[in-house]
Amino acid sequence: MALQRPKGTSDHLPDGSPKLSLDTQARAFQRVTDVARGVLERSGAQFIATPIFEEPELVRRGVGETSDIVTKEMFTVYYFGEHGGFILRPEGTASVMRAYLQNGLKQLPSPLKLWTQGPMFRAENVQKGRLRQFHQLDYEVIGGDDPLIDAEAVAVMMSVVEALGLRQVTLKLGSVGDPADRERYNAYLREQFGRRRADLSPESLLRLDRNPMRILDSKSAEDQAVVRELAVRPMLDFLGEQAQAHFASVRRYLDAWGVSYQLDPGLVRGLDYYRRSAWELHHAGVGAKSALGGGGRYDGLAEQLGGPATPGIGWALGIERLLIAMTAEGLELPLSPGPHVYLAALDGALVGQVAELGLQLRSVVRAEFAYRALKPAVALRDAGRRGAVYAALIGPEEAGRGVVALKHLSSGVQRNIGLDELRDVLGGPDFVNPDFVNPDADDRTTHPQPSTNQEQA
Ligand code: HAM
Repeated sequence: MALQRPKGTSDHLPDGSPKLSLDTQARAFQRVTDVARGVLERSGAQFIATPIFEEPELVRRGVGETSDIVTKEMFTVYYFGEHGGFILRPEGTASVMRAYLQNGLKQLPSPLKLWTQGPMFRAENVQKGRLRQFHQLDYEVIGGDDPLIDAEAVAVMMSVVEALGLRQVTLKLGSVGDPADRERYNAYLREQFGRRRADLSPESLLRLDRNPMRILDSKSAEDQAVVRELAVRPMLDFLGEQAQAHFASVRRYLDAWGVSYQLDPGLVRGLDYYRRSAWELHHAGVGAKSALGGGGRYDGLAEQLGGPATPGIGWALGIERLLIAMTAEGLELPLSPGPHVYLAALDGALVGQVAELGLQLRSVVRAEFAYRALKPAVALRDAGRRGAVYAALIGPEEAGRGVVALKHLSSGVQRNIGLDELRDVLGGPDFVNPDFVNPDADDRTTHPQPSTNQEQA
């Protein structure tokens, strides 16, 4: 058998591929990114890109020593030499903050809104929508801690989802408090779970010491049973005054703007850098255990990375999961437009000349050409298979007269067009209305009809 791609990765395929689904359609990925880019740029975010591999310390300090990501899911890459290896980034936030600190972005107007997009890597147990290489759309706002920024971040995420047409989403909103609140909550959890040591998984026994909140989102069935039976109180009960006031303010904005959410008093995120506001977005089509996106405030992250105190907040949406959700809601993307014109020489001596014409036309329209001389019927069939709007055929007779026979494929209307006017004809409105069915398709005297269908961008 020919070599296969690694488990948990996907190929993004061209339209028409036999194994195409929306979440493997390359163009669907681009469309989602384009739609998101529009919303994010209108929200004032600028694009930033960071390397896909980083120092392991960045993720250890950023995402947290006790997180599943760091303990089980890191990919490490090595090269020849002394270096201890790099990690493939499992998420974008720590990298964006590192880049902010390293490049002195503090000097830019604050708070600074950034967005990025790209592949992330986690060595997870693979299932539908849970990949080892997946793609995130990531939005980060660095340098402000006003609750209005939190509410805006949530609203911007919802705008992206809405712009993609998704309706069946549930936003779960909570607060994970300030560090002192977390300390009190952890003390409470240690006391609670301490009574059930014998029933906890070996991993959670370690978590009990170091970060008992992690037990709450443990994937092990035995831990989940203990969590259920103990009916532990949620984090929200332990918020201090400041975190409470901040959260109340975030909620007031969201309520006033009509952004609907479910209050989730026990929300736990899988990354350790969160403080105060935290949220997850769910979709029935993706399954209850997997979120479409998630985010929150991370005011302590910059210090964790060795920088000065710098507040931040953001979110990420999983592109594969967005596409799965879009499929579940029956949202389809139109297929790629084919070439606007497909050119074919009808004689071998003209192939190079026709190709040159095709190359020139690309400054105006999408143009493809045949690599050898074709019979007219074959050229028209090939043009049709490629989804071309026009076929341009050039035989010795046309070449001698300085014209091409331009056929509008959906209507069958054909005209001879002078080489000097071809660019204008192809670059302008269609010379026939493709919705108009010409009763006399071979009548070369057909006049142009008003166009309703220009090439889709
Ligand atoms: P996260 O919740 O770990 O947050 O991931 C965000 C989204 O990435 C998830 O909701 C999901 O859509 C997608 N995702 C995560 N893991 C996988 C996977 N194995 N396969 C497919 N999709 C996946 C973060 O990564 C934070 N950096 C978000 C953030 C930004 N917080 C503040 N700023």
